[in-house]
Parts: sequence; C-alpha cells; structure tokens
Amino acid sequence: MTTIGNREKKRLYLNEVATRDGFQNEAAFIDTDDKIALIDRLSACGYAKIEVTSFTSPKAIPALRDAEAVMHDIARAPGVVYTVLVPNVRGAERALSCNVDEVNLVMSVSESHNRANLRMTREQSFAQLRDVIDTVRGTGVAINVSLSTAMGCPMEGDVPLDTVLGWMERFAALGVQGVTLCDTTGMAHPAQVRELCKRASQAFGALELTLHFHNTRGMALANTLAALEAGIVRFDASLGGLGGCPYAPGATGNVCTEELVHMLELDGYDTGVDLAAVLDAAARLPGLIGHDVPSQILKAGRRLDLHAMPAHAQGVPAERTLS
Ligand code: COA
Ligand code: ZN
Repeated sequence: MTTIGNREKKRLYLNEVATRDGFQNEAAFIDTDDKIALIDRLSACGYAKIEVTSFTSPKAIPALRDAEAVMHDIARAPGVVYTVLVPNVRGAERALSCNVDEVNLVMSVSESHNRANLRMTREQSFAQLRDVIDTVRGTGVAINVSLSTAMGCPMEGDVPLDTVLGWMERFAALGVQGVTLCDTTGMAHPAQVRELCKRASQAFGALELTLHFHNTRGMALANTLAALEAGIVRFDASLGGLGGCPYAPGATGNVCTEELVHMLELDGYDTGVDLAAVLDAAARLPGLIGHDVPSQILKAGRRLDLHAMPAHAQGVPAERTLS
C-alpha cells in the first residue's frame, strides 16, 4: 500500500503482454528494431512485468521469430520483470540463453483447446512442461504457468472449477512461483470470476496469482472488478487492446492496458503505471502494425480531457444556453 493524503491506495501489479499476446496475432511482421523501441518505451511506463516475446517454433508463430534478437537488445529497466512464453524444453533453453527473469509456460485446462493450440493432449503438455520446469529449476529464473481457457473453452463450454484447481495443484506441487488464470476467448463473467478467484486464492495462498482477461464479449473490465473484489492484485493487460489467440475462433483483444489503468486510477488503486506514458505508446501502435486498435481511451481520451466549446455555442447569451 502507498498512502496519498489520508487515503491508502492498494498496490496492483500489471504485466504488459502486447508484444507477445498482441504481436503473435499480427499478419505482417513487425521489424525487430520497432519491437525493441516499443519495449524500451514500455519499460519506462512503470509496469511490474513485461511479457517480451515467445520462444515458440518460428513455423508456428513467424511473427515472433526474432525472439533472441529482441530479448538481447532491449534495455532492461531495474525493477521490471522480463518474462517470455516458452512451450517446450527447446524454448526454455533458448530463453535461458537470453538471461530472462521469468519463463511463462502455457497449457489449456480444456482438452480440445489444448489439442487445437498445442497439438497435444493435456497429459502430453503436462509431461512436456514438467521437463521445462526441470530444465529451469535451480537457474534462478522464475516459473509462471498460464492456464488457458480457465473460464471457458470455445469448443467444450464451461470448464469445471475443480478441473482448473486440479491443474493448479499439479503445477504447485512442482514448485512453480506463479499461475495465471486465462480467459483466453473472453467467456468469463463476473460471478464466475469472483468464485474462481476466491477458491484459487484460498487453496493456493503461496502462489502468485494473475488474471488474464480478454474483452471478446466486452466484459474484461467488469471481470477485473470482480477479481479485485476477490483480492487479486496481479493482472495481464495489452497496450491498445491488441491480442487474441490464433487457435481460438473469434478470440479478440486482451483487456486494454490504458482502459484498465484509466479505470483503476479512478477507482483509487496504485497501478504503478503512468497513464500518459502508456497512452503515448498506444498512440504509436496503429503506425507500427498498420491498422486501428480497439482502445476506447485512445479514441475518446480520458474522462477529463475536456473539449473546447464549439464555435456555434460561443457568444450565445447565457439565458439562451440555459433554456
Ligand atoms: N523453438 C524453435 N523451434 C522449435 C521449438 C522452439 N521452442 N519447438 C519446436 N521447434 C521446431 C522443431 O525444431 C521442428 O523444426 P523442423 O521442422 O525444422 O525440424 C519444428 O519446430 C516442429 O517441432 P515439433 O517438436 O514437432 O513441434 P510441433 O510442430 O509439435 O510444435 C509447438 C509444438 C508447441 C512448439 C508449436 O506448435 C508452437 O510453438 N506453437 C505455438 C503455441 C503458442 O504459442 N500459441 C499461442 C500462445 S497461447
Ligand atoms: Zn491471451
């Protein structure tokens, strides 16, 4: 907590995922130098963590085939955790060679989505991730596991809460530091989020728990409030609302960083993030990726970014404008 005046602000920890979750979905390759310049800009915004890139097969995700170059050439800011997505031991070795702070492993808690995204059964994924954990353990690099489709699978529907908790249990037993519960295709709703977050934080108090929302059905901010009610303090977010999942039909953007920070600031939270700096970075995205981004705050401005009186209303007598 930090104290502003008499009021205590609850500290939240934001992880920026645009250059991984966002860029992996871009059809046109974004130049390595442009990626590095953006990440350097983000490093000055006050995030707790930045998910820089992913060490996946370049055939599977060609947009991030420059992972080593990006990781080597960014300027790392003290206090920021630089994390990367890793799907297998090969990816872990590549990531370790770049001296990352954390690896983020991923599997789905629904069988169908895991087969679609990772072309494996969940058990095969678990075995592979166990090998990754064995490779990374003891190196000083932190391990986080992102569980996709934790709030619904586009092919199977609701995933039972006990299934989600069961996978958390298996990874907790392997000694990972954090778990991210991902609403990969925007199926979560507030009542469900409240229940899941309460149960997960009660059962796994020692794990760093992060929530990852997508705004596919316009519920990402509402779901964030529900998670906050349940005591969650870590959130993933994506600049401009970029993002999606290449193997999840209809999936669209992650919760938009600037919309999230805008709301959380108004609600009296300390996100650590400088909203003006984030907006400045977001404004550069369309030029970088060649298309518009979903961010509402970028379009409309902050709530108190006021507009000049329109010319037709100036000089009108006060009585008339009041009537
Ligand atoms: N880094 C670089 N190359 C890799 C790699 C890695 N981490 N993992 C596999 N490869 C290469 C292999 O060397 C092989 O190359 P080759 O064809 O030139 O011999 C090729 O990819 C296929 O390897 P294989 O072991 O058969 O893996 P696969 O084809 O079953 O792919 C994944 C498995 C998981 C690595 C791949 O599907 C992937 O990266 N998917 C992306 C998943 C993702 O990030 N989704 C979005 C995030 S939610
Ligand atoms: Zn996502």
